[in-house]
Amino acid sequence: MSSATGSGLLAGKVAVVTGASSGIGKAIAEDYAREGASVVVADVNDAAGEAVAAAITAAGGTASYRHSDAADPEAAEALVRFAVERYGALHVACNNAGIAGESNPTADYSVAGWHKVIDVNLNGVFYGMRAQIPAILAAGGGAIVNVASILGQVGFAGAPAYVAAKHGVVGLSKNAAMEYAQAGVRVNVVGPGFIATPLLKDLGDDLLAAIAAMHPIGRLGTSEEVAGLVTFLSSDKASFVTGSYVAVDGGYLTR
Ligand SMILES: NC(=O)c1ccc[n+]([C@@H]2O[C@H](COP(=O)([O-])OP(=O)(O)OC[C@H]3O[C@@H](n4cnc5c(N)ncnc54)[C@H](O)[C@@H]3O)[C@@H](O)[C@H]2O)c1
Repeated sequence: MSSATGSGLLAGKVAVVTGASSGIGKAIAEDYAREGASVVVADVNDAAGEAVAAAITAAGGTASYRHSDAADPEAAEALVRFAVERYGALHVACNNAGIAGESNPTADYSVAGWHKVIDVNLNGVFYGMRAQIPAILAAGGGAIVNVASILGQVGFAGAPAYVAAKHGVVGLSKNAAMEYAQAGVRVNVVGPGFIATPLLKDLGDDLLAAIAAMHPIGRLGTSEEVAGLVTFLSSDKASFVTGSYVAVDGGYLTR
């Protein structure tokens, strides 16, 4: 791994990744660290998050785990304070924490289920950016990458709350990008297609095969394929990219 003062894409940067105990967030935290960032791994699954931070450290990177519920605005503030106190600043944030929620058409969707998905997947991104932007401004600028989905662009029967939340994340990201572009904070949003992670654990094998076939590439994506894009957008290589929705979806949205 590159050290924080080395030559990686994120050398010398401090980053937080929410939902980093598993799947896509874990791969992003690992990739950030590989590229030289000091990484705060944030999640509500403490055992898995501690293991992610320990593995990064064992591989020569710099990482700490911090319990942080994305649906809690005070936890979002505390997470930023933790990063700044531990590593001196905050330059990069990836708001990735998300849940799938129940699977029901709109008229059958529970109100409690609706609020749960909106709280984590949409409000969580707002709470995150609201806390992160002042710290990134204080550090002299940086980048935020929010994890939406292909379902931030198109619908998916049985997932009204998820689709609404992810569409909301796309709009929220564009707005923040516009507001802070001149101050040096870039905000972009990625749209993964279906990625093989524990999030898909409740979908049966037959449905997963049908979903894989909806991607022109003919398979599900990997968390590492999403992480590569997120790291690029988080780095100075993407210095003229802000307010963009960038798909990483095996061609799903071409249909
Ligand atoms: N897997 C996919 O097919 C896919 C596709 C498009 C977008 N996404 C999005 O990618 C992101 C990551 O999903 P994944 O597939 O890696 O799922 P995952 O279930 O493997 O990981 C999600 C992580 O978020 C954490 N988390 C859940 N609720 C949280 C909360 N309130 N606060 C903090 N952490 C919380 C979980 O503990 C877990 O570690 C989500 O936003 C998801 O919507 C996933």
